[in-house]
Amino acid sequence: MKKQITRGAGAVLFAATLIFVVMLVYTQTNDNVKAQNGQTQDKTTTSQGDKPFDQAQALAELRKAIVGKEDKPAAEVFKNIQMFKTMPAARLLRVMELGYAKSLGVDCTHCHVPGQWEKEDKPTKQIARDMAAMVTNINKDLLPKIKNLKSAEPVINCTTCHRGQIKPALNLPG
Ligand code: HEC
Ligand code: HEC
Repeated sequence: MKKQITRGAGAVLFAATLIFVVMLVYTQTNDNVKAQNGQTQDKTTTSQGDKPFDQAQALAELRKAIVGKEDKPAAEVFKNIQMFKTMPAARLLRVMELGYAKSLGVDCTHCHVPGQWEKEDKPTKQIARDMAAMVTNINKDLLPKIKNLKSAEPVINCTTCHRGQIKPALNLPG
């Protein structure tokens, strides 16, 4: 009798887990497709659709969550830092807001599911890391090899190419 009850409970638990996993996979695939179609994504809505995403509020909440730890290395304050390990935590948030979102003309939802900042659900998040590596390569290796430039230390960043757009222009407007 006891055994049967346990088995019954086990089956219910198994079924519940299965439904949960299927739903999780479904929403993530949905998000990926939306992230890949970034250009057509409505900037004011989250990946869930109707609930508007408030970037100022998201940033305010994150800043509140790191009070007292603003100057600590990002890797100690956040959960999944692979690139900006030693960057002060508060500065990482400024990079997200101005260096990434603003320079590409997007909000946080282009690379993140709001509130689940440490996750890797959207391919754009890893693209951003690869882009940063490319920028470092250009600044450290390629630009210094070009002689007779105006700047002693010429430098590019995300804005140099993106200029507020997801897809950098190949032609001047007009
Ligand atoms: C272009 C893509 C992109 C945009 C837009 C972007 N992020 Fe990020 N975000 C990243 C990447 C990449 C990382 C991981 C950095 C690393 O590995 O060092 C990250 C990491 C984070 C983390 C650390 C999460 C953790 O616990 O590991 C937070 C918090 C965060 N972003 C918040 C934001 C907020 C808030 C915005 C909007 C203002 C935003 N991001 C916009 C790409 C982006
Ligand atoms: C040398 C020019 C250049 C620089 C600098 C540059 N990018 Fe890009 N970026 C591109 C090009 C080209 C694409 C591909 C556009 C396309 O799909 O045709 C791209 C695409 C992307 C995408 C994918 C967008 C999408 O939704 O399809 C992200 C995210 C991105 N860049 C982030 C960054 C970040 C963050 C930086 C700064 C660390 C950066 N880029 C710097 C040229 C650049």
